[in-house]
Amino acid sequence: MIITDFSLASAILNQGDLLAIPTETVYGLAANAFDGDAVAKIYQAKNRPQFNPLILHSNSLERFKTWGIELPEKALKLAAAFSPGPITFVVPKSNLIPDIVTAGHSTVAIRIPNHSLCLALLAELDFPVAAPSANKSGSVSPTTAQHVYQQFGESIGGVLDGGPCQIGLESTIVSFTSEKPKLLRLGGLSLESIEKVLGEKLDTAGLINNENPEAPGMLSRHYAPKTPLYLDAAENHLDQVSYEEMAFIGFNKSHPKIPITQQILLSTKGDYAEAAQQLFAAIRKADALNQKIIIATLLPEEDLGRAINDRLRRAAIK
Ligand code: TXA
Ligand code: MG
Repeated sequence: MIITDFSLASAILNQGDLLAIPTETVYGLAANAFDGDAVAKIYQAKNRPQFNPLILHSNSLERFKTWGIELPEKALKLAAAFSPGPITFVVPKSNLIPDIVTAGHSTVAIRIPNHSLCLALLAELDFPVAAPSANKSGSVSPTTAQHVYQQFGESIGGVLDGGPCQIGLESTIVSFTSEKPKLLRLGGLSLESIEKVLGEKLDTAGLINNENPEAPGMLSRHYAPKTPLYLDAAENHLDQVSYEEMAFIGFNKSHPKIPITQQILLSTKGDYAEAAQQLFAAIRKADALNQKIIIATLLPEEDLGRAINDRLRRAAIK
């Protein structure tokens, strides 16, 4: 059921059930992080591999401190600039956090989402919530309450409707387990803005090595629509598929040959933030056109274009 009632939302979490929550990035599938049985329901509902740890969400750094989780200095600098917001900090774990949340790792990922309804809910709770994106493992992340409901229906406790997500891409994940902060996932906060505040480059080696990603959830094919999605030229597929059988996802320029009703542009004015906000809905929409293939074009490799391209590459057929 899609709900807007706040006290019902906190009751669902307090009784150990799953609640999909709105955030500024994507909807999350939340459970009481201190309740191992509730957290187990997340893995089950998403069909998520047990080795893939979850992000903890709460409304302030002070509360994380009371649960034994502290940020090192560089992380505090970023938090001062960007939190609440689309950044997740990987730091040493506290004993209060059940191993099922961190999949046995000695680190824990924490984040303060920038969404007023979500923050108000988190402030009411006596615990942090563990919340991965509210989609079945491997499929596109949800940016509306309806997306979540289409996938989970009545099989979870409820979906708290907080409107469409403003950022539209998952948080950027940075690890602080060594002297040089490591970028583990590109996301809704650009690499450039993080490096500007830190005054240093991040270590991005963990991103490139897809075979052994340091964020265990970053497997190379993810966000996969049912329709095969390709990133090369439409012309390369003409021996099998006509233009009339293609859907198209572009940044700001339409395709000259594919029927215009089968085209989705992420931002006609060429704005990265707008493109990010539209991306996952565009992949769903293109899929729902039920054409033979989807052709998508990459954006310039800068700003949020990097994270958008990362998601498109993971959605694509290799
Ligand atoms: O924006 C977001 O981050 C959304 C919203 C709901 O907050 N959440 C989200 O969660 O994207 P999820 O589970 O879909 O992705 C979390 C990623 C996974 O790739 C996971 O492997 C990684 O974070 N992760 C979690 N804990 C980690 C840890 N201790 N060390 C390294 N990576 C970790
Ligand atoms: Mg996810």
